[in-house]
Amino acid sequence: MLDALPSWFGIPESNDEYVSFVQTHPTWSAVDDKGAVIGVLAPMRHAASAEIYLIAVLPEWHRHGVGRSLVAAFEAASAADGVRLLQVKTLGPSHPDEGYARTRSFYEALGYAPLEEFHDLWPDNPALIMVKPVLVATGEAAAVARTGAPITRAMVVAALRAAGLRRGSVAIVHSSLSRLGWVLGGGQAVVEALWEVTGTEGTIVMPSLSSDWSEPSRWEWPPVPEAWWQTIRHEMPAYDAALTPMTHMGEVVECFRHHPATVRSPHPADSFVANGPLAHQLLHPHALGSAFGAGSPLARLYERDAQIVLLGVGHGNSTSLHLAESRTRWASRHVIPYGTAMMVDGERRWVVYDDIDYDSDDFVALGAAFAAATGGEARVPLGAGEIIGCSMREIVDFGIGWLDATRQS
Ligand SMILES: CC(C)(COP(=O)(O)OP(=O)(O)OC[C@H]1O[C@@H](n2cnc3c(N)ncnc32)[C@H](O)[C@@H]1OP(=O)(O)O)[C@@H](O)C(=O)NCCC(=O)NCCS
Repeated sequence: MLDALPSWFGIPESNDEYVSFVQTHPTWSAVDDKGAVIGVLAPMRHAASAEIYLIAVLPEWHRHGVGRSLVAAFEAASAADGVRLLQVKTLGPSHPDEGYARTRSFYEALGYAPLEEFHDLWPDNPALIMVKPVLVATGEAAAVARTGAPITRAMVVAALRAAGLRRGSVAIVHSSLSRLGWVLGGGQAVVEALWEVTGTEGTIVMPSLSSDWSEPSRWEWPPVPEAWWQTIRHEMPAYDAALTPMTHMGEVVECFRHHPATVRSPHPADSFVANGPLAHQLLHPHALGSAFGAGSPLARLYERDAQIVLLGVGHGNSTSLHLAESRTRWASRHVIPYGTAMMVDGERRWVVYDDIDYDSDDFVALGAAFAAATGGEARVPLGAGEIIGCSMREIVDFGIGWLDATRQS
């Protein structure tokens, strides 16, 4: 094949290198309808990039889409293999060769952009590096790519039951829809599945945190300039259970909170939403200085032995474990001032209060230790993720001892 393209492959030593490369590396071949090879592409993998090390199509097959097909196969395989950037080295435009001018047009037509011409990379010729980013699927496109078949409401119902949820259950639910894959009907399907399992007797609770309603000097995602802090403290609107947006809580909670029978607790930064016969009494009161501790909605959920349901997320996202944290000796030594904007006596005020410096960094380890020691969690596969179910009382009781032991150091 290289011999058939002498004006591109005229350096015998280079051709020998190509031949020995394809003998030892996986290579894409294009064949005609009799199975004869009419084109080849040999890729070379670097750290986060993949290179078209060699591409050649027999001259009589040029401009029939063979090169395009080879590059498409190379690109799809590279993307699936985590490659971020594609590259090719070809003869640079400062060289007058017309054949290579056509080759560069081919690469440009396929989306490769000239990056830089080097004059010292190859002994006698200018080398042009051309690059193309791999488009990483995000959001819904990524969910579709990860999902074999749509995840239906019926599948969610079956998985919730297998995870221990029952008619009449009181449950605190944490969710990441995208980690399950593509759920048909999105947040609505999950909320309806929860209701189908727990029935009208059940009460569902979800965290609905609003992290912007907090002391701006401690914001991290993103931080804001120090010069803005005073303005934020003066101007942040007062928390309004109906209006205040949640921060990155996901589509399931977003859908759930908009149901007319869903109520939201009055804590400006760390509220919960609930729906069901126990909703109001579980969420009220919610004292400023005890977001997740004594007298909080979590403490009342514990008293009712609520079920924890982790949909696509792990114990690292399980707010309930803050209740265990609040009951350790560690907590009493780690109280810090917080700030928020809320209504006080009919007026908007910036209010400063003390609470524990909550820390979820070791919750994944806590969850793993709980599962290993007690076997008290159910893990049920669902789509590209899983549902984890466990008793809140059991994991909080276990967590108090575990945190007391591990956080002392
Ligand atoms: C470069 C090469 C691999 C392209 O393969 P090909 O099968 O001819 O390319 P395709 O038919 O798939 O072309 C895809 C698109 O690239 C562009 N293209 C291809 N050849 C082109 C040319 N000569 N001039 C301008 N555009 C060109 C066109 O947009 C074309 O789409 P279109 O035909 O629908 O308009 C082939 O010509 C070849 O083997 N060349 C010699 C070897 C070589 O240059 N190797 C690379 C060394 S770095």
